[in-house]
Amino acid sequence: MLTARTTALAAALEKLYRDRSADIPFHGWHHVHFVAKKAVEFARELDVDGELVEAAALTHDLNYLVVTNSAPEVGRDLRISHLERAGFSADEVEDVDSVVMQQDMARRTADISDAAKALSDADTLFKALPVTPIVLANHYLIENGIEIGELASRVVTQQRPLLEQGIYFYTDSARSKYLNWAHTNVELWENVRSALGDEDVKEMLEIARRMGVIHGGSVAVIDASAADNGPTPGDRGL
Ligand SMILES: [Fe+2]
Repeated sequence: MLTARTTALAAALEKLYRDRSADIPFHGWHHVHFVAKKAVEFARELDVDGELVEAAALTHDLNYLVVTNSAPEVGRDLRISHLERAGFSADEVEDVDSVVMQQDMARRTADISDAAKALSDADTLFKALPVTPIVLANHYLIENGIEIGELASRVVTQQRPLLEQGIYFYTDSARSKYLNWAHTNVELWENVRSALGDEDVKEMLEIARRMGVIHGGSVAVIDASAADNGPTPGDRGL
């Protein structure tokens, strides 16, 4: 970690996450640690305050410790108390909270601050990593109590527009290194939705569920174009 304050913050949060790891197998310490490390790299590229970005990254997903599939403001009280305990002033805490709020994928725009861009690129990169759908997607299903069709709809509905608007990533380095992964990831989840339209695939997954080898309820695919049964804007996708 960059400073004594973020080192203390990270140590306290690692312990908190370790105690709760069964509750958040997707958004756990492995996620937070990765995002914090990458966010510092992007902060350096954008020439913004690394400690501010690191503190925001370490505390950006505390809401998931409070309520599953919630928005970042749900973690605000926890964020404030941990930042204050690590020695951040009231003004600094406000700045950190602002960065966290701006980078929320469900709401972010082209006009967020450079600090928020650094955190956003790190958090979004985690979603686009080729290992994430292979190793961690099932943990997302468990954490959120949803089935794979719903997750596929969340990913496509949330991430396809960001690709089309050119703000999937903000930094030049993330765009040049990782944008192909992002396209592949969104296409993968679009293919998942197509596959779930195949009755034989659905039957196979249903049998696997009944036999207890995979998590999830029914595997019905959600039609995100149908307003009454698609994911709501507040749903947080993988
Ligand atoms: Fe995150």
